[in-house]
Amino acid sequence: MKAVELFDLSGKVALVTGASSGLGARFAEVLAANGAAVALVARRAERLEAVKARITAAGGRAIAIEGDVNDRAAMQRAFDAAEKAFGAVTVLVNNAGVAHAHRAVEMPATEWRRVLDTNLDAVFFWAQEAARRMLAAGQRGSIINIASILGIAVAKGTVAYAVSKAAVIQLTRALSLELAFRGVRVNAIAPGWIVTEINRDYLESDKGKALTRQIPTGRFGEEEDLDGVLLLLASDAGRYITGTTVFADGGISNVLPG
Ligand SMILES: NC(=O)c1ccc[n+]([C@@H]2O[C@H](COP(=O)([O-])OP(=O)(O)OC[C@H]3O[C@@H](n4cnc5c(N)ncnc54)[C@H](OP(=O)(O)O)[C@@H]3O)[C@@H](O)[C@H]2O)c1
Repeated sequence: MKAVELFDLSGKVALVTGASSGLGARFAEVLAANGAAVALVARRAERLEAVKARITAAGGRAIAIEGDVNDRAAMQRAFDAAEKAFGAVTVLVNNAGVAHAHRAVEMPATEWRRVLDTNLDAVFFWAQEAARRMLAAGQRGSIINIASILGIAVAKGTVAYAVSKAAVIQLTRALSLELAFRGVRVNAIAPGWIVTEINRDYLESDKGKALTRQIPTGRFGEEEDLDGVLLLLASDAGRYITGTTVFADGGISNVLPG
């Protein structure tokens, strides 16, 4: 078997949430470059159009769907639009997520709710909807949830985020158990520090640079560092992999700071 065939996504229909920037935009472009038709979902419509334009300019197929992952009606519309354009969604990348910087004692209830709604509830309901539709269509499929190294470790000022990402890892395992026999795989990617526009200023500051000394590989990740694991989990190359969380973190989750 040649790698190009093993990882080929031709005929697959992917839906990527949070595709307007950062990792989600990269995931969408990589899936499209490897043959998938891709539905892009996020709130910032112009940003989605720009990602769509890059994909189509490169010869791929994409549609942009404006929507908030916390809006269940918008979720139904997004799956309907993807189906109408390309057929049943067979790869879901549950990537949309938000962070916060509050210490626990200062955490407002509204902020706790916002983080848990987006990073956990929406991940469950989008996975549930994708799975329902895959089963109804008699399609095998792959659901990929984006967790974090903060799903197994903690840092100050991340209480809601860390709880949400830990839950995503357990959600992935629980869903995989119920769906494996029906041909739907559910896995997670747990990135370490990956430089994207939301954290670039911090990671490239002196304080941020000091963090790299703790990373075994000696550098932060770049968006393209996740391409391989994404393609493995999305394609038939990963056909016997389900319920797992793959850490793509330069080794940081294995070491004590110091
Ligand atoms: N970068 C890292 O170091 C890192 C490490 C571990 C895990 N992660 C995870 O990776 C994922 C992507 O993060 P990123 O670094 O690429 O950050 P980002 O550039 O801020 O991307 C977040 C994406 O989520 C979307 N989003 C947020 N809330 C949404 C909502 N309510 N409805 C629809 N879309 C929503 C945003 O789009 P709109 O604002 O246009 O809606 C945006 O496209 C997140 O789940 C994050 O927790 C990132």
